[in-house]
Amino acid sequence: MVIPWGRNDVVHPGHGLGHHAPMDGLKHHIFICINQRPPDDPRGCCAANGSVELHACFKREVRRLGLKGLVRANKAGCLDHCKDGPSLVIYPEGVWYRVRNETDVVEIMERHVVKGQLVERLLMPGHPPPPRTSESRAVPRPR
Ligand code: FES
Repeated sequence: MVIPWGRNDVVHPGHGLGHHAPMDGLKHHIFICINQRPPDDPRGCCAANGSVELHACFKREVRRLGLKGLVRANKAGCLDHCKDGPSLVIYPEGVWYRVRNETDVVEIMERHVVKGQLVERLLMPGHPPPPRTSESRAVPRPR
């Protein structure tokens, strides 16, 4: 049995979506930081580390896996993890990841989103995943 992550207090009875889900039928909402700063800014930024391309990769993966309407990958502003980025967070679980390349994106989509598995090697430092709930939010791959 797949045990995903999330908070019981944000799950709406009946359909299992947290309050972050903006529309009916959406199972996961992925926010990817694409914030860009000047090259001389000491904080750095996710865009300088390829986050715009990685966001596009997430969108391609949503299409490849047939998850349009179930999973949404949106651009986000700074998520306050600039030095560890590119940064992203997946709701409703509230799991934070850092991604470096397309291989990371594919692994998050195939394991976290489709199978409900935690991708431990990509967890954002300092952001342990919330406690698991007993309700599955894995999205089965269409046949
Ligand atoms: S610039 Fe991406 S987390 Fe701050």
